[in-house]
Amino acid sequence: MNGPFRLLLPLGVAIVLLAAIFRAAPRAPRRRLRRSVLLFVLYALILVATQGLEFVGGKSPVSSGFEFGASVLEVLLIINLAALALFDLLLHLARWDYPDIVHDLSVGAAYLVAAGWLMHRSGVNITSIVATSAVVTAVIGLSLQATLGNVVGGLALQVDDSIHEGDWIELESKVQGQVKQIRWRHTVIETRDWDTLIVPNSQLLTQTIKVLGKRGGEPTGHRMWVYFSVDFRFAPGQVVKLVNEALQSAPITNMLPEPKAHCICYDFAKEHKDSFAYYAVRYWLSDLASDDPTSSLVRERIYAALRRAQIPLALPAATVFVSQDDPDHAERKKGRERTFRREALDSVVLFARLSEQEKNHLADTVRTAPFSAGEVVTRQGATAHWLYILTKGETEVRVASSDGEERKVAELKAPSFFGEMALMTGEPREATVNAKSDIECLRVDKDDFKGLLARRPEIAQEMSTILAQRRVELMAVRENLDADAKKRKMVTERGRILESIRDFFGLSNGA
Ligand code: CMP
Repeated sequence: MNGPFRLLLPLGVAIVLLAAIFRAAPRAPRRRLRRSVLLFVLYALILVATQGLEFVGGKSPVSSGFEFGASVLEVLLIINLAALALFDLLLHLARWDYPDIVHDLSVGAAYLVAAGWLMHRSGVNITSIVATSAVVTAVIGLSLQATLGNVVGGLALQVDDSIHEGDWIELESKVQGQVKQIRWRHTVIETRDWDTLIVPNSQLLTQTIKVLGKRGGEPTGHRMWVYFSVDFRFAPGQVVKLVNEALQSAPITNMLPEPKAHCICYDFAKEHKDSFAYYAVRYWLSDLASDDPTSSLVRERIYAALRRAQIPLALPAATVFVSQDDPDHAERKKGRERTFRREALDSVVLFARLSEQEKNHLADTVRTAPFSAGEVVTRQGATAHWLYILTKGETEVRVASSDGEERKVAELKAPSFFGEMALMTGEPREATVNAKSDIECLRVDKDDFKGLLARRPEIAQEMSTILAQRRVELMAVRENLDADAKKRKMVTERGRILESIRDFFGLSNGA
């Protein structure tokens, strides 16, 4: 093919080839391929129109205009196809995540050179245009000042590498968001409130920007503060210790394990008005999009830990509660609580042989112990002499086998109980029990039990049977025991456990 049509076929073949390669590489971006196809169709139409005009009326200024248009489209198409092959295929396959602006600038520069070349080919003297258009340039320069400032800003942001797409930043206006795109003129920032900010690049360059959660060589982690107050009846040392234990006992979603979350007491009564001390938990957030949900999980942990220790969150000193607290009302309230506790105790087979009076006594001594989802309630190997009656929620019992791997051995749903081994024998916890949901427990301590066992030592025998059943269950998981082996173990374990209970509670052997 000759004349103006000479590049039609090669360009068509190039587009088909590129389209085929794009099909084979499905993740390559296709939006610019579509633009090239459109340009090609337009180019072909104009070529046909030029030929048509020349065929009908010979060469005319109109047909020359069409021909010039076709050569402009031809050059545009060549530049676009080259950019497609380089940026959208080669660099994409080489996984170089180039910013959009690099593509736009390269293509823009190629357009300028092509425009110069086309003008030169049509006999326009570019040097004289450049020399004589100083005034025009100045006028255009002034009117485009703001736009140019943004473009240069965009370039600077790309080149100095200070902000990247994906970074979380805080602007001087205190608005926080994630950088989604750095474009020619502006930067697109998405906030947690589902809004999009379009910030002109020149503005970004002239303000101090906080890049959140970034420190050289460290994983992303932004320090967060969660505040609470506890009144002066409770020593800051005690509050700090128990909140630290609760925070560090089990991981919390989206919280970095290091630096560790911790609690500080950061102030006493402000302006001599309050009757409480101010505390804060500081933790490092790994996914900056989930700030509030993670702080909420932290508050759940704090709340459960304080309630377990019977420490209420502080109330403003001026709060006045008016309640109808006559003796009858108080008695009814106490009665309801005792019934609830009695029902919980009744659900524990371990206490089945206790008399009504003994159960009532126990109901008065147990204490409430809530845990939030994910918390470790007992940890394998820990020394703790109490048992939990699960009154609400679910837990998971896990045990580390000899190869060090933790396996689930049971799930307990309320009403249930756990931690009886350590309570009765004084031995370290045999398994780790995690709260699967928010749970409520009643805690029975060794001291609550001591007097009872001293009065009725025969209870120890029955308890040893129940304890042996659970222990053999655990052994079966750890050591792969068959039914016969389990039976044999049951006999030896029952004897051993009974011995341990007697030792631990100081009971005589005849009991
Ligand atoms: P303790 O050893 O004090 O602490 C961990 C607790 O997990 C343990 O007491 C039991 O209460 C509980 N536990 C261990 N094995 C099982 C099991 N197989 N089924 C139910 N609970 C168990």
